[in-house]
Amino acid sequence: MELLQQIKENAKKQCKTIVLPEGTEERTIQAADQIIGEGIAQIILIGNPAEIKALAEKYGLKHIEKATIVDPASHAKKEQYADLLVELRKSKGMTKEQALKLVTDPLYLATLMIKSGDADGEVAGAKNATGDVLRPALQIVKTLPGISVVSGAFLLLTNKPEYGENGLIVCADCAVLPNPTAEELAQIAVSTAATARAIAKIEPRVAMLSFSTKGSAKNELVDKVVKATELAKQMAPDVMIDGEMQADAALVPSVGASKAPGSPVAGKANVLIFPSLEVGNISYKLVQRIAGIEAVGPVLQGMAAPINDLSRGCSVSDIVNLVAITVNQAAGLN
Ligand code: ACO
Repeated sequence: MELLQQIKENAKKQCKTIVLPEGTEERTIQAADQIIGEGIAQIILIGNPAEIKALAEKYGLKHIEKATIVDPASHAKKEQYADLLVELRKSKGMTKEQALKLVTDPLYLATLMIKSGDADGEVAGAKNATGDVLRPALQIVKTLPGISVVSGAFLLLTNKPEYGENGLIVCADCAVLPNPTAEELAQIAVSTAATARAIAKIEPRVAMLSFSTKGSAKNELVDKVVKATELAKQMAPDVMIDGEMQADAALVPSVGASKAPGSPVAGKANVLIFPSLEVGNISYKLVQRIAGIEAVGPVLQGMAAPINDLSRGCSVSDIVNLVAITVNQAAGLN
């Protein structure tokens, strides 16, 4: 079965609740209808109930009545969530007055629902920028124990079986941390290996990418990747990790054999770790646009509960897919 289909089928068995803070966004509400109809997740839509009703009528949506609709302007748990926000952010100077205002912001409200156990995960970003989706998530839900860095992975479905795992490649960070230190890069590698296992269902072979392979170039940028490789190996001794290496050495067996002989990863990497966000974000968009490769994500990793960010150019099916992935992540955390 195709990977995305497997992810959806697994989601249907989980009975998780996903909150969609952009409940009055046209693609989001259509996706919510499909998600409920297919039984992928239970849905909480945040938005003005009258607007949601009008959109449901406009698109002839049959399943939206089964969603829980939460009006950000007047919801029952406003006080409770505001108190929680003050509790979580008082060291940053959060006052009750500020908190009462923030709980009417759908993006804050959604993360407070997750923190309170009222939802298992969140998908947003069809109309909000990445930073605005991530900030409340990072402030309120925070990271998994032992991880301090949230990062964003993509599943590249290349249709080229000679690369990665029968054409599937998981890569990161493409979405979050602009300029990771060696320690942070090591954490990104370990988190991405976990995503490869949990979502892509593959045994990771992780290549730490650079413009140098095994000392072929000398530069402080290369030194950072060498150090990150060592640290990642120490953090996850059960995962195959190697570097530093160039992308061709990572992916092409003949190049890997000549540039990194004896490497357990070179020539057969299925997880690629980019040295910075610039490289990761630009690379995935280039292969997506020029090579026509399907890029699913970003799948945010390292967060204490799954919260995923859409591209503002997303389609209805992108939203459905990302909700299914979010359900799988939530199930993996139990
Ligand atoms: N992992 C974990 N925690 C983090 C991370 C991270 N990567 N980044 C920030 N935080 C925490 C901070 O420690 C801070 O916590 P605190 O308030 O409890 O002390 C909180 O999050 C807020 O951090 P700030 O640095 O104040 O927030 P800021 O808004 O500056 O940055 C953000 C965070 C939004 C993630 C920023 O790094 C960013 O905008 N990154 C780029 C996102 C982006 O635009 N990506 C490209 C588009 S995505 C795409 O094309 C698929």
